[in-house]
Amino acid sequence: MTGMIIALTGTPGTGKTTVCEFIKEHSQYRDKYRIIDLHKLILDEKIYTGRDEMRDTYIADMDRLRKRVAELIEQTPVGMDTIIEGHISHYLAADIIIVLRASPVALRKRLGKRREYSYEKIKENSDAEALDVILVESVETGRKVFEINTTDMNLISVVKSVIEIIESVKKGKVPEEYLPGKNNWIEQVEL
Ligand SMILES: Nc1ncnc2c1ncn2[C@@H]1O[C@H](COP(=O)(O)OP(=O)(O)OP(=O)(O)O)[C@@H](O)[C@H]1O
Ligand SMILES: [Mg+2]
Repeated sequence: MTGMIIALTGTPGTGKTTVCEFIKEHSQYRDKYRIIDLHKLILDEKIYTGRDEMRDTYIADMDRLRKRVAELIEQTPVGMDTIIEGHISHYLAADIIIVLRASPVALRKRLGKRREYSYEKIKENSDAEALDVILVESVETGRKVFEINTTDMNLISVVKSVIEIIESVKKGKVPEEYLPGKNNWIEQVEL
C-alpha cells in the first residue's frame, strides 16, 4: 500500500523547497516523508517540451511528468508518505494539496534576493499571489486543499503546519485552521 500523496505547491518564493530541505535534514521527518522535487526532476531528466524564453523557464512535459512521478511514487517505501514539491505539483495526482502562501509584499522581498529574477518576474509572481492564482487552480482540481499563510511564520512553524495537516487528514479529521479562503491580498496588486 502506498502512503498518502501530498502536493506541496505555491507561488515561487513561498518556501516550498525550504520546507522540504528541512524535512530532508531531520531524521524524525526524513524517515516518514519522501520528497519529490519536481523542478530538479524536470531538469535532471529533461522532462520538458521546450523553453519559454520570455519567462526564462522550461515548459514541463506534463504527460511524461505524470508517468515518471507515478513510477517514483511506486518506489516509495511502505510506511512513508510522498510529498511532491513544486509550483505545478497541484496538476499531478495527489490525495491532498497544500498551498503555501505569502503576502505579495513579503513575496517581493523574498524574490528580490534572487539575482536571476527580473523586476517583471517578481511582479508577475507577486501579482499572481495577490490574485490567488495557484489556490484557485488547486481548488478547481476538486481535491482536498489546505493553505498555510507563511507571511509571519518562521520555517519550523511552517514545517509543523505541513505535518499537522498531513497527520490530521490521515486520522480522518479536517484541519479547519488551514481551509482555504482566509487571505485577501487583492489590494497588494501592483498597478
Ligand atoms: N517562512 C519563511 N519566512 C521568510 N522567508 C522564507 C520563509 N520560507 C522561505 N523563505 C525564503 O524565501 C525564499 C524562497 O524560498 P524557497 O526557495 O523555498 O521558495 P520556493 O517556494 O521553493 O520557490 P520556487 O517555486 O521558485 O522553487 C528563500 O530565500 C527562503 O529563504
Ligand atoms: Mg523551490
